[in-house]
Amino acid sequence: MVRWPDARPCNTEDIDVRRPSSARMFDFFMGGSANFEIDREAGQEVVEAMPEVVQSIHANRGFLARAVRFLSGQGIEQFLDLGSRVPTVGSAHEIAHSLDPAARVIYVDREPVAVAHSRQVLDDVKQAEIVEADFRDVRSVLSGAAATGLIDFARPLGLLMISALNFVEDDELAADVVRRYAEALVPGSYLVLSHSTAAGFPQETAERVAEVYRNVNPPSFWRSPDEILALLRGTTLVPPGLVAPSHWRPDREPEVDPNRVAFRAGVAEIGR
Ligand SMILES: C[S@@+](CC[C@H](N)C(=O)[O-])C[C@H]1O[C@@H](n2cnc3c(N)ncnc32)[C@H](O)[C@@H]1O
Repeated sequence: MVRWPDARPCNTEDIDVRRPSSARMFDFFMGGSANFEIDREAGQEVVEAMPEVVQSIHANRGFLARAVRFLSGQGIEQFLDLGSRVPTVGSAHEIAHSLDPAARVIYVDREPVAVAHSRQVLDDVKQAEIVEADFRDVRSVLSGAAATGLIDFARPLGLLMISALNFVEDDELAADVVRRYAEALVPGSYLVLSHSTAAGFPQETAERVAEVYRNVNPPSFWRSPDEILALLRGTTLVPPGLVAPSHWRPDREPEVDPNRVAFRAGVAEIGR
């Protein structure tokens, strides 16, 4: 067993330290401490190839905050955050609870360090829990979330997939995951989606970053804006549609060039 700084013990057998982990690299980009040397080295390679990665991740965080606020304004009181990493400052439960202390948030991740760290962070948070599951296994996620007693699937829900579907390489599988969640949710529910893209970046930059991410656990893949839109077939995007996350209903004039943000984001109405 290892004791992660500030976290509950987790089983070393579960932690893959031979390959960089996407969750731990993300933590490195955010300036966190839940990462190893191998994650920092891979993260640094990405930063050197595409320095805009850090502003892109911050743009994503800002989008998450504005989207959760938008959903709360639409009466959404419960959230399911897939591929959540560690819910640190500015995460869904913090934003949702600042608007509605009774809001419920379920986080889902399968990376052992992220899950152990999330348990620690959420230890004294009422109305928020982490479920350890593979978000592609829709049935397990839904039953795990229901088992917490915090989520009522008979009521509208905000489904968050922020930099999650880029870990699903197969287009059909990724679209099927969205479709199956949409089918499980009632009308009035929303999907908040952000997906990595290299649109706007030179081909060489896109390839260098893709090369690093091929060896990351799990690997991550670019999609073009049209390919991202195709994953949302059957849903209705609210204005302004699919845009750089920095440019989705910004509070003030964005300082970044949307073509230098490596994500596209949108909020869609879902549920049948
Ligand atoms: C890039 S991070 C995004 C974190 C968070 N959504 C955010 O925006 O801050 C992606 C997260 O998705 C998780 N992940 C990737 N594939 C997954 C899967 N199939 N099931 C559950 N979690 C997954 C990784 O472990 C990682 O924590």
